[in-house]
Amino acid sequence: MSGLSVGLQRRGVAIPLVHDVSLDVGAGERLGIVGESGSGKSLTMLAVMGLLNPPLCATGGSIVLEGKELLAGGDAALRRARGVAMGMIYQDPMTSLNPMIRIGTQVAEGLRAHGVGRDEARERSRKALIEVGLTDAHKVERLYPHQLSGGMRQRVMIASALVTAPKLLIADEPTTALDVTIQRQILRLVAKLQKERNMAVVWATHDLGVVAQFAHRVAVMYAGRVVEIAPTRSLFRQPEHPYSAALLGSLPSRATPGKARMNQIPGIPPDPTRLPVGCPFHPRCAQATQRCRVESPALTERRSGSMAACFVPPENWTRQNRP
Ligand SMILES: Nc1ncnc2c1ncn2[C@@H]1O[C@H](COP(=O)(O)OP(=O)(O)O)[C@@H](O)[C@H]1O
Ligand SMILES: [Mg+2]
Repeated sequence: MSGLSVGLQRRGVAIPLVHDVSLDVGAGERLGIVGESGSGKSLTMLAVMGLLNPPLCATGGSIVLEGKELLAGGDAALRRARGVAMGMIYQDPMTSLNPMIRIGTQVAEGLRAHGVGRDEARERSRKALIEVGLTDAHKVERLYPHQLSGGMRQRVMIASALVTAPKLLIADEPTTALDVTIQRQILRLVAKLQKERNMAVVWATHDLGVVAQFAHRVAVMYAGRVVEIAPTRSLFRQPEHPYSAALLGSLPSRATPGKARMNQIPGIPPDPTRLPVGCPFHPRCAQATQRCRVESPALTERRSGSMAACFVPPENWTRQNRP
């Protein structure tokens, strides 16, 4: 996708919430999207899925999947194509699972909606349940969502997203509510399925630990824009944006997992309806110069192979933000 923007319609004007986001992800690639809560990760994902509801709407840009433009056409055929080509998993499975419908029926639903016959749909959804590790699929498909544990519900949601064999899987913080062990199992499971199917996966999270474990490349979002995009290793070795560096500084140390308190980044994420002039990060940035207060930096290529939207190169940073 390129130049994607999302706005909130209010009294006839669109208040920008996501600004000119361009991302591409190839078959077999795992892209992480990281940023604090409110940075625009979910809106970006929902725009790609075509799931924004008024007053939210995509206000510009384009989303291309295998050479086909998806954003321009709002018609049913395109929406259906999107439904088959992309799957999405969410933080809370209960938002996508219907509590009144048996698991088997729900997983088969995506296939039935695309004209697959009842028997084949049942067969394929059973296979999908087994694939996500629910080996007693015969039993599970008769149950209702509330009869499953949180981890099992996540697996069911992954099965529903994958049953149509999508080219792109979009994950919006699906492991955030789970305990660390189950979180790791889910990450491993998605990575395994991703490899087997050579799928593209986009995984949004506020957790850099998840990114480190999972992503080949990372896009860092702040205030509704991408401020850095880099191979995961480069990002961790040499962040090119002070916000990325600050995020990395707030990783709890390995020595005392779970115990260390996160060093919070000073200041609070900006209100998207009242963004400062200049670089949106400058009020919280230890490296900000006069230029940053008046001019907004664009994403530019860096020596490390990363792209970053910052006027101040790392070699000029004061110690405060240096990794
Ligand atoms: N339905 C909505 N109405 C108004 N503002 C919204 C709505 N959804 C999201 N926002 C705002 O858009 C910004 C980005 O939100 P979101 O994409 O959910 O962030 P993230 O997923 O990174 O936490 C936030 O400031 C949020 O308050
Ligand atoms: Mg979100």
